[in-house]
Amino acid sequence: MCDVRCAGSWKLEAGTEGVNVKSYRVAVIAGDGIGREVIPVGIDVIQKAATGSCALEFVEFPWGCEFYRRHRRMMDVDGLETLQGFDAIYLGAIGDPAVPDHVSVWELILPIRQRFDQYVNLRPMRLLPGVRSPLAGRAPADIDMICVRENSEGEYSGVGGRLHAGTQHEVAEQTSVFTRRGVERIAKFGFELASRRPRKLLASATKSNAMQHTMVLWDEALEAVAKEYGSVSWRKYHVDALAARMITDPASLDVIVASNLFGDILTDLGAAVSGSLGVAPGANINPERAYPSMFEPIHGSAPDIAGKGIANPIGAIWAGALMLDHLGATTAHDRMVSAIERVLAEDGPRTPDLGGRATTKEVASAILQTL
Ligand code: NAI
Ligand code: MG
Repeated sequence: MCDVRCAGSWKLEAGTEGVNVKSYRVAVIAGDGIGREVIPVGIDVIQKAATGSCALEFVEFPWGCEFYRRHRRMMDVDGLETLQGFDAIYLGAIGDPAVPDHVSVWELILPIRQRFDQYVNLRPMRLLPGVRSPLAGRAPADIDMICVRENSEGEYSGVGGRLHAGTQHEVAEQTSVFTRRGVERIAKFGFELASRRPRKLLASATKSNAMQHTMVLWDEALEAVAKEYGSVSWRKYHVDALAARMITDPASLDVIVASNLFGDILTDLGAAVSGSLGVAPGANINPERAYPSMFEPIHGSAPDIAGKGIANPIGAIWAGALMLDHLGATTAHDRMVSAIERVLAEDGPRTPDLGGRATTKEVASAILQTL
């Protein structure tokens, strides 16, 4: 269960069961490729799970690479202002071979994460019952990690440039920006989360042997924050050794706190050891709730399988569950996660990435029926 709880504002209105339930507006950006296949079925499951807990209004925006081809921009000029009026954002995936990835990422996803100060990227990495890990002999109890990835600065600050483009003297510089405030707040979130989990373990992903400026600041900030959390056992690992440990001894890992780039890489690895990139969810959270948070599967638009109707919808559905949890509908979150677990554990339909032959819609409707 995600440990992020809602304290946000809401209006009361009559819900479907005749009781007063909270109501929320969710902005939907299905985006590109398989984003457009997993988000519609995700919405169906979220709507059903939320019935009786909260009333949700989904408002769709046609932003992404197709929008870019027509308008030369990834979203409307006032897109961020528009999104700010919503309680949450539900995102599919952005990316198309016809548009350079740095354009699609830097004109849509990263501006949302940065402008809305979604500085926590929370990514559970769990082997679900009934799913086979590519690591031999591992059961669900062996793989239950969660990454708290710094999501607003670090290696993805966007600072840098290219000089003498296209010449023999071309120079490219990409600067990592780490602030003490930025590292301390992500560390606090990680320790707080670890202190509420049964094993109370925290691993910090560092590389302070080679990166003597940014990662030494990272280590110092972690050490300072750790002093406030005596109940948590923590240690730092160089990120390369941590990647190896995720393969050789995942059971020794619980909460992982990582910078933007390190967390990006480690969570694809974590998704792979959990059976598939297609099952992994992510939450981009502004813990202070000054802005909407954004929920998305961690995978991309998967052009290699887009249009075939075989994308695994579980990552998107689970991300929807994290959204409900964030909005305070904890029971609805728990219902969704148990429905996913039951379908997988009871040998229900599964998509090809999990070794099955089912379609996106078949998996989603099995989850809907189980709810
Ligand atoms: P990807 O995640 O789209 O695909 C990697 C591999 O995993 C592919 O073989 C794909 O078929 C498979 N896969 C991914 N999701 C799956 C699912 N739900 N079910 C079954 N198989 C699945 O990553 P890739 O190929 O590096 O990037 C493709 C595009 O997506 C690029 O344009 C990239 O920039 C973009 N991207 C966007 C992200 C986002 O919107 N947050 C995140 C990652 C990539
Ligand atoms: Mg990634």
